[in-house]
Amino acid sequence: MQSDLSTHLSLGDSSLRLPSISPSHILQSSARIVMISDTHGAHRQLANLPEGDVLIHAGDCCSKDTVRGDPTLRKAGNSLIDFLDWFGSLPHPVKILVAGNHDTPFTGRDWFSGKPLVMTAERARQCCANAGVLYLEHQELLIDRLRVFGTPWQPHYKSMAFNADDAARRTLFGQVPQGIDILVSHCPPAGVLDVNDKQQSCGCPVLAEHLETIDPRLHVFGHIHKSAGTVRDGDRISVNAALPGEKFTLSNPPTVVDLTV
Ligand SMILES: [Fe+2]
Repeated sequence: MQSDLSTHLSLGDSSLRLPSISPSHILQSSARIVMISDTHGAHRQLANLPEGDVLIHAGDCCSKDTVRGDPTLRKAGNSLIDFLDWFGSLPHPVKILVAGNHDTPFTGRDWFSGKPLVMTAERARQCCANAGVLYLEHQELLIDRLRVFGTPWQPHYKSMAFNADDAARRTLFGQVPQGIDILVSHCPPAGVLDVNDKQQSCGCPVLAEHLETIDPRLHVFGHIHKSAGTVRDGDRISVNAALPGEKFTLSNPPTVVDLTV
């Protein structure tokens, strides 16, 4: 099967590195980062998220039920619109979204049937902009002095969104700049908060290799719900911000980290 990458971006093309975005939010000496992930269309279960300077959603905002061969090919787009309506209304000054494998509107294609979605990728990006949400698709963001990089790419999982093979991920993760403060990826690196309910390590080994070079102070991801939590290794804090607990209830709490800037 053809990689999503080959149809979505062309490696070596200058379009791969989008220009960085700089929201005009002034940070004090410490920035409060609030992290959530894998809301899968159940975002309205969440109330009273902690306050913070930056709110990060690390992917799979779209409903789990609406991307499996949906005959109308509309629901995934509707799920995104409802998510953005909610996410965009939250009071955090900077709101960041990175796509996950369920967030098919950002590829404009239904993963199950391969057919085009009514919502195109361009329209999905525009909806984010209209909602005041900063959508990062392999892209750097500068918030005052804080450097953030968001990437959705991950190892192949069925034919869902943002799959990339090992060679493509080597190229992609090799492009993530050194010296960034916060890395947001939907998938975990291999060996860090990446064990599923069958006790399998599901993280990306290529990302794990590149992390030593990228060396972010904070790495935020989700995807593997069973391994939600936080670990500290030296100066690096790794957060699996997946919120679903049993039966897809969003029972895990958001994670809050204060970073000096
Ligand atoms: Fe996922």
